[in-house]
Amino acid sequence: MKFFVDTADLSEIRKFAETGLVDGVTTNPSLIMQAGNDFLDTVREICTMIEGPVSAEVTATDFETMLVEGRKLAKIAENVVIKVPLTVDGIRTCKALSDEGTMVNVTLCFSPAQAILAGKAGASFISPFVGRLDDIGQDGMGLIAEIVSIYDNYDFPTEVLVASVRSTQHVVDAAKIGAEVVTAPPKVLWQLFKHPLTDIGLESFLNDWKKTGQSIL
Ligand code: G3P
Repeated sequence: MKFFVDTADLSEIRKFAETGLVDGVTTNPSLIMQAGNDFLDTVREICTMIEGPVSAEVTATDFETMLVEGRKLAKIAENVVIKVPLTVDGIRTCKALSDEGTMVNVTLCFSPAQAILAGKAGASFISPFVGRLDDIGQDGMGLIAEIVSIYDNYDFPTEVLVASVRSTQHVVDAAKIGAEVVTAPPKVLWQLFKHPLTDIGLESFLNDWKKTGQSIL
């Protein structure tokens, strides 16, 4: 399972990258707004830090302008993935950019039908938003299971990138289903390390070690 960090905060990306567990980064216009820095500079900087795919989202809504924006963003670095929304123009843009050899992440996916369109359009990633479906009382993880099973029936080049992740349980559930990628905010990724029994066990091991009076070094 691949871990992408869902943030445009450079220091958060740098910190989590030190674990050696970061496979990529996803950004969106809201995350760029929260980080408060220039969009193009931010994407350029992330691409110098992370070797894996870095998603940068277009903001036009018509095919022609999306294509121009996507081509411009793709020039920033080889690992840039162009993020497009799941609209008719977005899917058209996905097909055109994918045909040119550019990686595309189709975002704002909320149904299996939409995921089929992204697969047919040659997307490298489909981003179903589990948290936002859960928020309205629907089954976000159920959607992931459906998409994974649909994609298993075909030779789509598309990886399922579980997005809008709110908890460690989302990560675990996505792994059980076999989704290729999870993108999560740094807070959730750090929470994956945590268990109270780990802290209690370590404290007791260290106390006992101190009593031996020994030192490894
Ligand atoms: O990058 C898209 C995504 O993960 C959004 O998450 O928490 O705004 O629903 P959220």
